[in-house]
Amino acid sequence: MIRILILHGPNLNLLGSREQSVYGTAPLDEVDAAISKLAEELAVAVDIRQSNNEGELVTWIQEARSGYQGIVINPAGYTHTSIAIRDALAAVDLPTIEVHLSNIHRREEFRHRSYIAGVATGQIAGLGPTSYLLALRGLHDYLTAPRKQKKAAAPSPTRRAVRNTR
Ligand code: DQA
Repeated sequence: MIRILILHGPNLNLLGSREQSVYGTAPLDEVDAAISKLAEELAVAVDIRQSNNEGELVTWIQEARSGYQGIVINPAGYTHTSIAIRDALAAVDLPTIEVHLSNIHRREEFRHRSYIAGVATGQIAGLGPTSYLLALRGLHDYLTAPRKQKKAAAPSPTRRAVRNTR
């Protein structure tokens, strides 16, 4: 069975009461319940964790090397500051989807830069809790059809050989 690590970064434990006009009214346990329900439908195992601590998130990412096939992460404020989280994701090299509840690209300028996007497989932002569900679905599709996607991206050896003879 595919196992996916779902990580929530700092202040996401306050969802539901925190800046409701930006992040909505659903508390984190409601978001987690929706993720678990979808995981059951997709027949994947999810391990969902939240931390306010950068080092703890780095350690969990490192540990994902054994036993997990992919990561869904909302790095929250660390998105815009954390080279350590980016380095950890690059080191483990697992397919990773970056998630944001809000659309970081139409908010303050300091939120437009993500240190994570450059090492992520994809990014989903702006759809509230649905961002997590699309990320899980997308990662599941990616993991269950990886060869098809890789073939489409790389030119075939035959075509490369032909080009080299010109
Ligand atoms: C967030 C966006 C970040 O800019 C912010 O610091 C958060 C939450 C989001 O889910 O929209 O804490 O990652």
